[in-house]
Amino acid sequence: MPVDLAGRPIAISGASSGIGKATALACAKAGMPVTLAARRIDLLQEVAARINNAGGRAIAVACDVVDPEACRKVIARTNESFGPIYGVFANAGYGYEGEALADDDKLRQLLEVNFFGSLNLIRPAMETMRAEGRGHALFCSSCLSKITLPYYAAYTSSKAMQEHFARAMRMELAGAGIHVSSVHPVGTQTELWDRLREHSEGETMADAGSDRFMQGPDRVARAVVRCLRRPRGEVWTSLGARLVFSLGAAMPGVAEPIIRRRASVKRASMRSSKRTSRGD
Ligand SMILES: NC(=O)c1ccc[n+]([C@@H]2O[C@H](COP(=O)([O-])OP(=O)(O)OC[C@H]3O[C@@H](n4cnc5c(N)ncnc54)[C@H](OP(=O)(O)O)[C@@H]3O)[C@@H](O)[C@H]2O)c1
Repeated sequence: MPVDLAGRPIAISGASSGIGKATALACAKAGMPVTLAARRIDLLQEVAARINNAGGRAIAVACDVVDPEACRKVIARTNESFGPIYGVFANAGYGYEGEALADDDKLRQLLEVNFFGSLNLIRPAMETMRAEGRGHALFCSSCLSKITLPYYAAYTSSKAMQEHFARAMRMELAGAGIHVSSVHPVGTQTELWDRLREHSEGETMADAGSDRFMQGPDRVARAVVRCLRRPRGEVWTSLGARLVFSLGAAMPGVAEPIIRRRASVKRASMRSSKRTSRGD
């Protein structure tokens, strides 16, 4: 039997844009009261107003996920406003492009948001879920939790850590009535790409003649709602992508030369466009 989501509260981090915002709207449409969390409170309030005006229930809570107390407040506000939390989607995150060993401070900062930020939100939610004997925690990982790319060690490692935590927690909580899932979007049209440029040293491989298939965030949002209704371990928006990335992980000897070649072509194109813009 699918889970009836009506009236089951969910908290979502990174709900001010992209996948988090789309998922908040989709969950509200499914009847879930939604707590929206992120740093840009003005954007969260706009999304909350849109949900409330459409007859749903939503609140906006300012939160930097690196702050465990701020995350705890997000869960407490959910419990107070809507009753015991049922779902939590740890979605806030960003990436940067840079050599694997270039900068430990940048790596630590990214892990604080993408990885520890997920735990900061899920941990207090889990206290309520354990007491209630039901719930569903989702990590927004990536298709790049399965394979990595040159110059993306930091981002892809954080996504792999989220996936492994989801796997371990799923087994630990199997008898407790609590589901744990990891979400694995492929390239999605969101602000992530602008943030990627800001956090990198200027232009990125993603800017250099992208031939990636880009899906809309609504597609990920619909897949998340399907998973909340019919819980499963991993959320993918296409079986093809799931197979390609899983095969890539199983056969690094085949996958890595292809990935490396594509990255070299993109880096070369970046260098040449830099020379052109400098007028060399
Ligand atoms: N787009 C893709 O192609 C893609 C593919 C695979 C996985 N993903 C994953 O999807 C998730 C959502 O990203 P997106 O693509 O939707 O990008 P996005 O539009 O840039 O959304 C990122 C969200 O994270 C929030 N955020 C960032 N740092 C935060 C912090 N310290 N505390 C609280 N919130 C923070 C941002 O809100 P504020 O700035 O308002 O705080 C924003 O709402 C990320 O985990 C990303 O890794 C994306």
